[in-house]
Amino acid sequence: MAAAILAVFVMTFAMVFGNSAADPDLLQDICVADLTSATKVNGFACKDAANATAEDFFFAGLAKPGLTNNTFGSLVTAANVQKIPGLNTLGVSLARIDYAPGGINPPHTHPRATEIVFVLEGALNVGFITTANKLISKTISKGEVFVFPKGLVHFQKNNGKVPAAVIAGFNSQLQGTANIALTLFAATPPVADDVLTTTFQVGTKQIEKIKSRLAPKN
Ligand SMILES: *[C@@H]1O[C@H](CO)[C@@H](O)[C@H](O)[C@H]1NC(C)=O
Ligand SMILES: *[C@@H]1O[C@H](CO)[C@@H](O)[C@H](O)[C@H]1NC(C)=O
Repeated sequence: MAAAILAVFVMTFAMVFGNSAADPDLLQDICVADLTSATKVNGFACKDAANATAEDFFFAGLAKPGLTNNTFGSLVTAANVQKIPGLNTLGVSLARIDYAPGGINPPHTHPRATEIVFVLEGALNVGFITTANKLISKTISKGEVFVFPKGLVHFQKNNGKVPAAVIAGFNSQLQGTANIALTLFAATPPVADDVLTTTFQVGTKQIEKIKSRLAPKN
């Protein structure tokens, strides 16, 4: 009997918190982010609604391809609350991702959002890995859509001979990105070599080599 009550309690708990797994809902029509405010709430403080303008809800930055001449041959251009203050508390955002031939958006996770991509041009090998360590992957082409569930490690790679691009949608105003390689090998201060040698079952030289390749360039 106690076990049954506990089971009901656990299920109720899972339902309540399962339903509020995205960004919190808004409590007013608009809450244009005051990006300069020192007050940090769960999101950004609102500027005076009387001072809101169309510019607070506008962004032209996804119109053109981003520059992909970098280490990974890809560029994510975000259209999130940091670019569009009017998105504050609305729980959605977009990005454009461009890929050079051979370019990769390397394995990463978004702690706060599911991602859905629409291919603008080219073709991509995309995939995500479940917590049961199962790879779900596919090649997607212009006009097609693919989904990366919230929190799971995923990637996109352009194996074609021409550039590729997608528009990505997120159910968060600021999805957050943890790039697996960079979090482990390019953190400041650095993750200790012994953590990485034991984790990857290789020697210090190999770890140092990866760290030097991924070190921030400037
Ligand atoms: C709103 O705009 C008015 C007029 O420009 C200005 O005086 C006021 O300081 C602004 N309020 C905020 C909170 O920015
Ligand atoms: C990438 O290309 C742009 C435009 O051609 C150039 O200004 C920039 O310096 C290049 N960046 C790198 C890292 O080569």
